[in-house]
Amino acid sequence: MTQVTAYRAAIINCLADPNQVGLDGSYDYYEDGVLVVTDGHISDIGSAKEVLARLPVQTQVVEFKDKLLSAGFVDTHIHYPQTEMIASYGEQLLDWLNNYTFPEEGKFSDPEHAKRVARFFLDELLRNGTTTALVFGTVHKASVDAFFTESEQRNMRMIAGKVMMDRNAPDYLLDTPETGYADSKALIERWHNKGRQLYAVTPRFAPTSSEAQLTMAGQLLAEYPDVYLQTHLSENKQEIEWVKSLFPERAGYLDVYDHFGLLGERSVFAHSVHLDQAESERMGETDSIISFCPTSNLFLGSGLLDLPEVEGHGIRVGLGTDVGGGTSFSMLHTISEAYKIQQLQEHKLHPIKALYLATLGGAASLSLDDKIGNLSVGKEADFLVLDLHATPLMDARIANSQHLFEQLFVLMMLGDDRAIAETYIAGHRQYQRERG
Ligand code: GUN
Ligand code: ZN
Repeated sequence: MTQVTAYRAAIINCLADPNQVGLDGSYDYYEDGVLVVTDGHISDIGSAKEVLARLPVQTQVVEFKDKLLSAGFVDTHIHYPQTEMIASYGEQLLDWLNNYTFPEEGKFSDPEHAKRVARFFLDELLRNGTTTALVFGTVHKASVDAFFTESEQRNMRMIAGKVMMDRNAPDYLLDTPETGYADSKALIERWHNKGRQLYAVTPRFAPTSSEAQLTMAGQLLAEYPDVYLQTHLSENKQEIEWVKSLFPERAGYLDVYDHFGLLGERSVFAHSVHLDQAESERMGETDSIISFCPTSNLFLGSGLLDLPEVEGHGIRVGLGTDVGGGTSFSMLHTISEAYKIQQLQEHKLHPIKALYLATLGGAASLSLDDKIGNLSVGKEADFLVLDLHATPLMDARIANSQHLFEQLFVLMMLGDDRAIAETYIAGHRQYQRERG
């Protein structure tokens, strides 16, 4: 039987990149709006006056007082196995990996541990309004089986992959070119396009893969053209020098990935904060994607992404939390740090552009904007009920605001998981905040 539910509240809906179409044409806002969901997909949206008039009689209408509906957030870079090592003190990237990250990831040889952390992680995403993410597992095949088993159960649209790493890390975390290939292939066959699950080939970063392994990663992409690739690129100055010494015959860091056929329209490179002109051009030319990870870039002291510069090269950009290098699961908090990083470079990040990056822009960067990212008719109904009055300070500041842009900006600067009242996945409520 067809299931139809209407949701009445204020609604903000991104339509396009404000850089492309101008601010006015880039979003719709309904102060009193209605969103209609039919069998997990959005079937109508508009002002309450118009939508209620054309709604089938007897449709259930759920009313939210003083709330704002938005599409769910899209996190384009996060490590689920690093959940319980977030906020580890004192190091930049390479020492942070050796001292904290690798020992933590070693625990995922135990499938029970993987299952427990995957559950906690997905619940944390829902608490923070993140409905889709591009996710690193560990080197262990079972870590990805555990993850997809849990995300499929929640019917969340997730992309994930088993880390490929065959050198420059502790033995207990290494695969080989052959097992990395075979395990990834088996996971693609089992999970890619199963329900809402999608697979990403996941070489950790150039320093931890041999040439033989990077060749195998390229081969997987050639065999399965619609899977993703996720890795790290140009995050830290020492890392970049290390890559140059490991691959002296390549022109630079990006050229390593390019040489093995890893660039392209489904290839997401986390960080990319120190690209030179030629690298930015090559990223744009190949339609490759940057995941901008503000809290991580600040926490690990990596560097500042120049957003207008990379977008000027035609590079698609999504936002990522990069937990546990990043310090928050909240995309609102991530936007706040993105804003400050642009401020340090005398760029402005408009709240509508920021919302776009966290929703439709993230979806577009993952080539999923035909399915998710906004509340347009036909999309999968992943949406949030936002509470702009979640804390006393937010309540007072919102009461002292005039315009939608001001209110959104306050939400972004002051909001976090407390501002997520409810999270819906394919039309089903999967999270409801407890009232404080
Ligand atoms: N580079 C290689 N591995 C990692 C990781 O786990 N986190 C971050 N931030 N950078 C990396
Ligand atoms: Zn990362």
